Amino acid sequence: MASNSLSKKDAPKNISSNAKTLGDDDFIVSKTDTSGKIIYCNEIFTKMAGYPAASLIGANHNLIRHPDMPRIAFKLAWDLIKSKKEFFGFVKNLCADGGHYWVLAYITADLDTSGNIISYTSVRRKPPQSAIDTIAPIYKLLLEAEQRGGMDASSKILNDFLDEKKVGYDEFIINLQKGATV
Ligand SMILES: Cc1cc2nc3c(=O)[nH]c(=O)nc-3n(C[C@H](O)[C@H](O)[C@H](O)COP(=O)(O)O)c2cc1C
Repeated sequence: MASNSLSKKDAPKNISSNAKTLGDDDFIVSKTDTSGKIIYCNEIFTKMAGYPAASLIGANHNLIRHPDMPRIAFKLAWDLIKSKKEFFGFVKNLCADGGHYWVLAYITADLDTSGNIISYTSVRRKPPQSAIDTIAPIYKLLLEAEQRGGMDASSKILNDFLDEKKVGYDEFIINLQKGATV
């Protein structure tokens, strides 16, 4: 790990409503080791997050976790990628200045030739505003449920919501990315 890398305590405390938007053709890419420490990020990642590249290498990826994000989203992601499945999800990320940017994130495990997980890779692109408008209030409900009753409570809300819509999680996310509204 780089000795000058950032840690969660370096994340901004002054959260603002400033929003940055990815370009239509932009891709944010990062790779982590198996514990979630950043081992690679591209230039657009550093530009959006607002940190110098050298200080991001070795930092835990949770440096850019936004407090509005419910924990259930990351539990879902880690459960899937640790079992070598793909994760798709909308993520609100925290910038160094306390602002944020939304992405549709794809995360997957990188395997060696024997099938062992050696790292993880994430590629993100710009979500449509309609997807952000739909998912933000859902995340708010999940976060409130988590604060009341932990992840069992937020997990129940998410599952009940999907059951009511008669849609699987992946399908729900992909439909929102295509511009569907709930
Ligand atoms: C390849 C990869 C990319 C990730 N990208 C993000 C990200 O962009 N934003 C984020 O908040 N968490 C991301 N995570 C999840 C973090 O590792 C972490 O689970 C999350 O920030 C919640 O951290 P916390 O539970 O320590 O608060 C990523 C994980 C992996 C493996």
